[in-house]
Amino acid sequence: MLKNLIIILNLIILNLYGSQHITPIPKEIKFNKQKALLGKKLYFDTVLSKDNSVSCASCHNLERGGVDNLQYSYGVEGQEGDVNTPTVLNAIYNFRQMWDGRAKDLAHQIQFPLTNPKEMGNSFDNIIKALEKDTSYNKAFNEIYKNGITKENIGDALEEFQKTLVTPSAFDDYLRGDENALTPNQKKGYELFQKKGCVSCHNGINLGGGLYARFGLIDNSITDNLENKIYENDNPHFGLYNVTKNDFDKYYFKVPTLRNVALTAPYLHDGRVKTLKEAIGSIAKAQLGLDLTDEEIFLIEEFLKSLNGKVTIIQ
Ligand code: HEC
Ligand code: HEC
Repeated sequence: MLKNLIIILNLIILNLYGSQHITPIPKEIKFNKQKALLGKKLYFDTVLSKDNSVSCASCHNLERGGVDNLQYSYGVEGQEGDVNTPTVLNAIYNFRQMWDGRAKDLAHQIQFPLTNPKEMGNSFDNIIKALEKDTSYNKAFNEIYKNGITKENIGDALEEFQKTLVTPSAFDDYLRGDENALTPNQKKGYELFQKKGCVSCHNGINLGGGLYARFGLIDNSITDNLENKIYENDNPHFGLYNVTKNDFDKYYFKVPTLRNVALTAPYLHDGRVKTLKEAIGSIAKAQLGLDLTDEEIFLIEEFLKSLNGKVTIIQ
């Protein structure tokens, strides 16, 4: 009873306070080119990992929608991670970073992969020493930053590069008034996306990335399954609860962006779902209690494909 009441309250609050607006990617993106080029060099460089084997790009492949299309990525020494890798494309527009939002921005985010023993397994002392040995990094950092190579400056440069990783798409043209930018099926899919209530969580520039929502808000059989899995799993993912330790926050995850979602299979924070159709069907059930028809799923998928965009890597 209480649980149902909480769920209904949640939906009301979402509808009252949640912005239902979807806005296009701004036409002009401000960034510092010199910093972004340094960030780009760091992004593709395995020197950041403990044993020189992994770069940011290993898990966040920019040719593959900003992910590696694996359920879990592999870090140093071939270790498998325990949460699905989200895309870096358009991440600049997320209100916080990581599934549980524990990073407040992109500069803050980098310390997690760099020091996670299962990802890059390194320490900032080591990274700074390695970069100081390299004359071209030394030169670049010292030209830009008064205090040279520091943890904060590495974060700043990587953030600046990631600001350039935005992917305007046909949908942005449509939002700006080009009626022909979407196919008739995509327009029907967009209408369903709004009418069925997807937009109450997936909104803003990123169609997501702007709030936390409970995974299994209406149909929590999906999280009951998680709960069962938890007993076999040493490293369960409780979402926002991991940060706040507040019981109420269990299974609250940052709503993921749907930009480029057709390219970023598998889906959900544990990568359990292989296809986009399946993700649309099971999320509609879990978050809205809806059983979508095959036709509706098809149309929504067509719409989501209009969110595929191309990233231009700065030179
Ligand atoms: C071994 C694979 C791996 C490597 C290497 C890696 N990441 Fe990630 N990245 C992940 C995973 C997994 C997550 C999700 C972690 C979580 O939410 O707890 C993530 C999350 C992120 C996010 C947050 C996106 C969002 O929507 O919340 C950003 C941004 C990001 N990584 C950028 C980077 C950068 C920059 C580097 C290099 C310094 C890097 N990553 C290195 C696997 C990796
Ligand atoms: C109440 C908020 C809410 C509503 C409503 C909602 N979603 Fe989501 N959506 C989420 C959350 C939270 C996740 C991530 C869940 C997880 O992985 O634990 C998600 C994940 C997804 C994913 C997987 C994305 C990825 O990268 O793994 C897709 C696709 C998706 N939603 C589409 C939809 C569609 C289509 C609708 C409408 C039928 C919808 N969502 C309605 C909150 C919502």
